[in-house]
Amino acid sequence: MNLENLCKQVNILAKEVGAYIKSQKIVVADVETKSKNSLVTFVDKTAEAKLVAQLSELIPEAGFIAEEGTSDKIGEVYNWIIDPLDGTTNFIHGVPCYCISIGLKRNNELVLGVIYEINLDELFYAWEGSKAYLNGKEISVTSTPTLEDSLIATGFPYYEYEKQDEYMNLFKDLMRNSRGLRRLGSAAVDLAYVACGRFDAFYEYSLHPWDVAAGAFIVQQAGGKVCDFKGENDYLFGKEIITCNPHIQQELLAKVKLHFK
Ligand code: IPD
Ligand code: CA
Ligand code: CA
Repeated sequence: MNLENLCKQVNILAKEVGAYIKSQKIVVADVETKSKNSLVTFVDKTAEAKLVAQLSELIPEAGFIAEEGTSDKIGEVYNWIIDPLDGTTNFIHGVPCYCISIGLKRNNELVLGVIYEINLDELFYAWEGSKAYLNGKEISVTSTPTLEDSLIATGFPYYEYEKQDEYMNLFKDLMRNSRGLRRLGSAAVDLAYVACGRFDAFYEYSLHPWDVAAGAFIVQQAGGKVCDFKGENDYLFGKEIITCNPHIQQELLAKVKLHFK
């Protein structure tokens, strides 16, 4: 399989579906609640249906892990991991920061990632063996040597509050020992921004595979590090992710371990 060509086709598809999302206006009655603070609209569902239909043509034997459950097909080797609209709460409230996130897994390894941030028309992508790119230009993570000089993104807990105290203690610690913290409202955009050096690091818990698959892959192709809160590799299904430039990984991990015992 030629992953570079495949990535070009996925890029075109992400932009097409992004144009669809951008063209849609929603009203209060369009907003459904899946579970506490987990919202969805017909736009998320339609975007996912379009992605699944087109990606099925690109690799007919591939399966899907897709947020809105459009397909329950499991691929023996290849599986697409899709968030058709990451940042739904932003989208609903008219806050212009949301994206499409498409990752591809071959057996247990990620081999392709595409994130399209719709409002700024920014396409982030990489495939196995490639560099990482933003709108055709090579990108890389920062080389900031310390947390003190780092700008750090995170996602605030809005369910699974049982770890809220640990989260807040880490947050306070980083607030005093970094250049600042940001919460954009789209984990995939946070990851893309680490990949291109806007953020030095990003961490969050309670994320799903579709939030992180594409971004975790792109960050690594951009020279960054990705791990879970124990410093291990279970960030795709393990619901905990830390990602950053290689220089600050141990410092950040030590702080996470200190507060998340
Ligand atoms: C959410 C966003 C958000 C993160 C949440 C995700 P959604 O995804 O990525 O930044 O904090 O945990 O669920 O629901 O907008 O696709
Ligand atoms: Ca998401
Ligand atoms: Ca979503």
